[in-house]
Amino acid sequence: MNSKLNFKKLLEDNLLQAHDSEDIKIVLSGQYEKAFELLKDAEATGLFPALVGPPGVGKTILCRYFAQHRAKEQKNTNFYWLTMDESIKPSHLLGSFDPALTLQKGFCIESFNSGPLLKSMLTGGTFLANEINRATEYSQNTLLEPLEERSIGIPHLGRIKAKNDFFFICAMNLEELAGTHRLSEALKDRIKIWIRLTYPDKATELEIIRINLPEHFTVSEAELDLIYQIIEATRKNKTEIEIPASIRAGIAMAKLLGRKRALENEKAVKENASINVLLSDIVKNVLIGSIKPRPGIISDDIIEMLIKKILGT
Ligand SMILES: Nc1ncnc2c1ncn2[C@@H]1O[C@H](COP(=O)(O)OP(=O)(O)OP(=O)(O)O)[C@@H](O)[C@H]1O
Ligand SMILES: [Mg+2]
Repeated sequence: MNSKLNFKKLLEDNLLQAHDSEDIKIVLSGQYEKAFELLKDAEATGLFPALVGPPGVGKTILCRYFAQHRAKEQKNTNFYWLTMDESIKPSHLLGSFDPALTLQKGFCIESFNSGPLLKSMLTGGTFLANEINRATEYSQNTLLEPLEERSIGIPHLGRIKAKNDFFFICAMNLEELAGTHRLSEALKDRIKIWIRLTYPDKATELEIIRINLPEHFTVSEAELDLIYQIIEATRKNKTEIEIPASIRAGIAMAKLLGRKRALENEKAVKENASINVLLSDIVKNVLIGSIKPRPGIISDDIIEMLIKKILGT
C-alpha cells in the first residue's frame, strides 16, 4: 500500500456539499413526466408525496432530480436523504449531542450535531426518506411531528420550527415484504399523494439504457432490442419470477456489450462469435442476481430457457 496516500486530504477534496449540484442524467418521458408533474403539484399544495414501485424503476433518481429542480427554482440548494433500515434510529434523522462537547458545555445548542431531517427543516430544503418502510415504527414516528406540525421536539433543546419551504418526499417498494415494516397508519395518513412507478414503456426504457451508456460504447438498436426482449420476458413470466429484471439489469447488459464492442474496435478484430452467443454469456452473468425466482424455481433454469427462446443458443 502506498504509505504516502493522504486519506484526510482525499476526504476533504471529495466531500460533497449539500449544495453541490451534480449532473443528473434523467429521461423525463412517459411515466416519469407525469410523476414529475405530480411532485410539483405536491409541492405547490404543501401535500407530502410518496413514490412507490418495485426495485430499480427510478424512484430515487426522480426524487434527486426533483430536489435539484426545486433547489434551482428557489435558490435553496439543500437536499438531504437517508436510506432507512432496521438500524436507523431517530437520532440518525434528527441529530445528537456530541459527547465530548456535552461534557464541556452541557446539553446546549453548541453541543448538538444536526441530522439530515433537522437540517432540511432548518434550511427549508428537501428531505428524502428512501426505503421508508424499512424503518422501524420507532423511527417512523419521528416523522409524525415534522409532517403534521412542521416542528420537532429535541430533548434538552425544546421545539424547533421548520422553515416554510421544508419539503418531504419518501420512496418505498410496497410489494417487498422481507426486511420491511408496515408503514404506520399515522404516517400513512400524513402522506397524501401516492405516485406509482412501474417498469417503463419500451421507448422510455431504451432511452434510459442509451443515456446510461458511456459515450465511447456503441450498442446497435438491434442489440438493444434483444436486451429489451430478455428483460421484458422476465417481467411477463409472473408464474416463475417474483421480482423480474429491473432497469439496472438492462443497463448492465448494454454496458458489458458496449465494452466488448469497444475492445473489438481498439484491436480492430471482430469476434467470431455472433451477437446471440455474445449476449447469452452476458445475460447469464447479469441475470443470476437480477431476478428473484418464486420458491422452488431455480434461476439458472429460467435463464437457460429465456436464452434459448430469445437468442436461440
Ligand atoms: N427516468 C430515468 N432516467 C434515467 N435513468 C433512470 C431513470 N429511471 C431509472 N434510471 C436508472 O435506473 C437505475 C435505477 O434507478 P433508481 O435507483 O432511481 O431506482 P429505485 O426505484 O430507487 O430502485 P430501488 O427500489 O432499488 O432503490 C439507476 O441506474 C438510474 O440511473
Ligand atoms: Mg432507490
